[in-house]
Amino acid sequence: MNILELIIFILPAYVANCLPVIFGGGTPIDFGARFTDGKRVLGDGKTIRGFAAGLLGGIVVTWLLSGYAAHLFLPALDAGKQLSVGAALAIGALTGDCLGSFIKRRLSLPRGHPTLLLDQLPFLFVALAFAFAAAPQLVEAVSLPSFAFLTILTIVAHIAANRIGYVLKLKEVPW
Ligand code: CTP
Ligand code: MG
Repeated sequence: MNILELIIFILPAYVANCLPVIFGGGTPIDFGARFTDGKRVLGDGKTIRGFAAGLLGGIVVTWLLSGYAAHLFLPALDAGKQLSVGAALAIGALTGDCLGSFIKRRLSLPRGHPTLLLDQLPFLFVALAFAFAAAPQLVEAVSLPSFAFLTILTIVAHIAANRIGYVLKLKEVPW
């Protein structure tokens, strides 16, 4: 995949990761439960509404890409496979985001504590893993340099998005 194709490929994961910041809130996914260490399983920053909004948004973007930009969004795959990869990216991104919070809570880091790499990368890695599971032929298409590119792009985009979210008053802290 070239750089443009890589950016378009990863969009469903990015959208799934961004929308909860705008539409999240309400009941936490862990329902307030605590883990064996006495700390919250995930914390109040991971909500059912946020997860649902991310999932819905990721699927809508996938559907739009598959309908209007199929020559750029996984052109080697048929429409059905494109949709399943997009959905896998979205579910993977949301699951990975929860995994990051789970690890943060085990490390006693409070909700919202800025944690370089743990805040940015679990969502990307789990999204890619889910996408590879949905379409194993992608493993070859996303080569090591592409993987490195997506990792760096994600760190930069995450930092930029958080600053924008702070300026727009969507987030309480600029990270
Ligand atoms: N959010 C949500 N549901 C999700 C993910 C995110 O409602 N599944 C919302 C929450 O309001 C959260 C905000 O988006 O505070 C920012 O997300 P994130 O930075 O991932 O959460 P943090 O509050 O930083 O919590 P954590 O320390 O657990 O990452
Ligand atoms: Mg955060």
